[in-house]
Amino acid sequence: MSHQNADTARPYPPGAYPAAVIVLAAGAGTRMKSRTPKILHPLGGLSMVGHALNAARGLEPESLAVVVRHERERVARHITELDPGVLLVDQDDVPGTGRAVQVALDALDGHAGQPLSGTVVVTYGDVPLLTSETLLALVKAHHDDGNAVSVLTAVLDDATGYGRIERAADGTVTAIVEHKDATAAQLAIREVNSGIYAFDAGILRTSLLQVDAENSQGEMYLTDVLGIARADGGRVAALVASDHWQVEGANDRVQLAHLGAELNRRTLERWMRAGVSIIDPGTTWIDGTVLLAEDVTILPGTQLHGSTQVARDAVVGPDTTLTDVHVGEGAHVIRTHGTGSRIGAGASVGPFTYLRPGTVLGDEGKIGAFYETKNVTVGRGSKLSHLGYAGDAEIGDYTNIGCGNITANYDGVSKHRTTIGSHVRTSSNTVFVAPVAVGDGAYTGAGAVIRKDVPPGALAVSFAPQRTTEGWVTEKRPGTASAEAARAAGSAASTDTPSTPTEESGHA
Ligand code: UD1
Ligand code: MG
Repeated sequence: MSHQNADTARPYPPGAYPAAVIVLAAGAGTRMKSRTPKILHPLGGLSMVGHALNAARGLEPESLAVVVRHERERVARHITELDPGVLLVDQDDVPGTGRAVQVALDALDGHAGQPLSGTVVVTYGDVPLLTSETLLALVKAHHDDGNAVSVLTAVLDDATGYGRIERAADGTVTAIVEHKDATAAQLAIREVNSGIYAFDAGILRTSLLQVDAENSQGEMYLTDVLGIARADGGRVAALVASDHWQVEGANDRVQLAHLGAELNRRTLERWMRAGVSIIDPGTTWIDGTVLLAEDVTILPGTQLHGSTQVARDAVVGPDTTLTDVHVGEGAHVIRTHGTGSRIGAGASVGPFTYLRPGTVLGDEGKIGAFYETKNVTVGRGSKLSHLGYAGDAEIGDYTNIGCGNITANYDGVSKHRTTIGSHVRTSSNTVFVAPVAVGDGAYTGAGAVIRKDVPPGALAVSFAPQRTTEGWVTEKRPGTASAEAARAAGSAASTDTPSTPTEESGHA
């Protein structure tokens, strides 16, 4: 996880760094109707909880805790993989956001060996568009105004289901009322609780002791802390988020797709502003982890995932999906499905090309139409132009691999390597039966099956003499259109004549 502010000016005065961020993620997420826990569903190439962790880490808190319960083991494993520094906290049988924060605070106190003091931020694991910048603004306002509690709110046209914000005449918050517990007058309020807060740790701890479950849902509501803190003399304030997307949660797959599309739109806009041409944003999907240089062009129907990087002046697409692929400067990648590969500067790939993991194409090289490659290194300026498979192979520089060449790398039990030197010319339909090596400057003939090493500069051909039976069609396929065509062309009667091999030529 990146510490977004590591290189920039420290965002807070020293005393204002949050002591902890608590991410709530114990809920079941039943409306997803999925065997996958809700917060593990991805958007923009990262799980919902991954986005929540990134936003939290951007605050540079002393500690980061995530409260888990539903699908505990699977969720815990995922979170630890993303961020081993997270303190995982198990919620007990007592339900509610208040209880979730209480167990987290107890665990954080225990972990620190003393009660936490300072600011504690609470966020949700299912609000993926929330940014560190918004959290920073909340923490800053919380600190500058000396608040006991600061809550991030949004003004929505349809506030159904959300807790409503009740404000006093001076604008401070008096209480949050849950939808299910609200009066008709309270339901008319359109300012809602996002569920994202900054608390004074001490006030949070003592207020939670007073929270009960006397409400329509029989849960310990975290929202009750606001009324309690105010009654105890604390200042409770709200910060309205101008960008409502940042406080929206995904409860079902419709909302998830909606948020995913908005996240993608934001990612594309960021890249376009940074100098990338995206011809059709409507059919282009780019993960948040992808890196693009200035003057890259992305053509329609392209998806870029994972650690993919595209260097200056490269053109990717149309209809290309790249996952963990590095594309060199000025390279062209057309209608290609690629994973775990490197494409050199000025190289060309596609159309209809399948790059499997471990493909390394040198500068100015080419892997053309209907080629599949895997675990293969292709040197500078070498070309695999059409129709073939190259796996577990190493090809030198400026070598031309003819049409339809195959590395027979698998003997049914083990994989073997093919080594082909530089400036080699292989003719059409050469098969390399690995393990085998072809020296620099060697040639192969059409249809050669290379079972033995070919020394540098040698020509390797392998053929059985061609047998031509004159008149065979007229005799064996009488009455067919072929026989008629043969007869019209003056086909002779049936005889067997072995022919001399003709000169072979390969595709350039
Ligand atoms: C909560 C707020 C509501 C706010 C809304 C915003 C309370 C009482 N209500 O309502 O004011 O408008 O969020 O989305 O806080 N969770 C746990 N443990 C629990 C219960 C929930 O960790 O026992 C987690 C969930 O995984 C989820 C978050 O807390 O990430 C919110 O839970 P949810 O049940 O969705 O809260 P709401 O009832 O929607
Ligand atoms: Mg609830």
